[in-house]
Amino acid sequence: MKRSRMKILAIDTSCDETSVAVTDGVGVLANIISSQVELHREWGGVVPGIAKRAHQERLNPCVNAALREASTSISKVDAIAVTCGPGLAVALEVGIAKAKELSQKHQKPLIAVNHMEGHLLSAFAKDTNGGGVGDPQFPALGLLVSGGHTELILMRGFGRYEIVGQTLDDAAGECFDKVAVMLGLSYPGGPVISRLAKEGDPNSIELPVPMRGSADLNFSFSGLKTACLYRIRKEEKPTDKFIRNFCASFERTVVEALLIKLAEAVKKHSPRMVLLGGGVAANRRLQGAIEAGTGRLGIPVYKPFSSSLLTDNAAMIGVCAYFRSQRGNFVKDISALDRLPRLSLG
Ligand code: KG4
Ligand code: ZN
Repeated sequence: MKRSRMKILAIDTSCDETSVAVTDGVGVLANIISSQVELHREWGGVVPGIAKRAHQERLNPCVNAALREASTSISKVDAIAVTCGPGLAVALEVGIAKAKELSQKHQKPLIAVNHMEGHLLSAFAKDTNGGGVGDPQFPALGLLVSGGHTELILMRGFGRYEIVGQTLDDAAGECFDKVAVMLGLSYPGGPVISRLAKEGDPNSIELPVPMRGSADLNFSFSGLKTACLYRIRKEEKPTDKFIRNFCASFERTVVEALLIKLAEAVKKHSPRMVLLGGGVAANRRLQGAIEAGTGRLGIPVYKPFSSSLLTDNAAMIGVCAYFRSQRGNFVKDISALDRLPRLSLG
C-alpha cells in the first residue's frame, strides 16, 4: 500500500462520544474519547440536547488533550478532518463548527468524512507497534454493526463502495440496547448483555432468527425485539439465572442472524478479505463466529487493533481522511459544508 505521511487532527461528534484524534497516515498518535454514556444512561438512550451541550463543553479540552498526547501542536498538523454525517444533526453541528474554525484560523485544508466510511476503514489503522490490515485485497466485504447501522458493504477500492445488505428497521446495536432496557439492565445494552451472556446457556431460550430464509442480504431486528418483549413479559419474576440465559440466547440469535447474511454475501461476492467495524463488532461471540466461519473459507478477517476503534472514535475519521486526501478529496467551499444526518455510503 502506498503510504505517505500526513498529520491530521480529526473530530467526531456524531452521537454520544466527543472524540478527537491525531493521526499520521494510517498511524494513530492520539485518540481521545470522552464518553457521554453516564449522561444518557438514566434516559435509556441518547438525548440530542444533552449530547449537543456535552460536545460543546468537551470539544476544546479533547482537542488540547489529543495534541498533547501526540506531542504536537495545531501549527504542525497538515489538515483538519471532521465527520459530516450520518449522525445526530445537533451533535454533528458542534464538531463541524469547530473543524471549520480551526481550518480557517490556522489555514489548514479541511476533509469531510462519512462516519460509516470511518467504521469501514477502521481496521486499516495502525498503532505505534503496527497492527492493522497490510495490503488491501479487493473486493473487500465490510460488516458494519453499530447502534445506528447494520450494513454489508462491498468495497472495490478506496472510495468505491456499494451497500449490498442493510437493516430494514432497527440496527443490531439498537436491538441490544432495547432488549437490555426490557431486562432492566443499563445503557448501553451491548456490553452488559455480552458480559451476562458469558454466564448463561445460549441454547436455553428459543428466539426467532430474523430473516433466516430471506433471499436477499438484508437484516431486520424489530421482529426479534418484539419476540423478546413477549418472552420477557411471560416471566413473572425474572431471576438472575433467567436474565443470564436470556442474554446468552439473545446474543446467540443476533450473532446467527448476522453470520447467515455475512456467509451469503461471501458466497455471492467472493471477497478477498472481510473488514469488521462498529460497536457491536466488539462482541466476542460475534468475532469468534465470524473468524471461525471465514477461516473455513480461507478469507482473512480484519478488525481494528483496539476495541476503542470499534465504538465511535475520531482515529478512524483521521485514517479515513488520510485515504480521502490521497484521492484529493478536500472541502472546496468551507462555508458551504453542512451536516448530513442521513448521509449514506452507497
Ligand atoms: O459504533 P458505536 O459506538 O456507535 C454508533 O455509531 O452507533 O456502537 C454502539 C453500539 C451500541 O448499541 C452498543 O450497545 C453496541 O454498539 N455494543 C455492543 C458491544 N459493545 C458495544 N453490542 C454487542 N456486544 C458488545 N460487546
Ligand atoms: Zn458509529
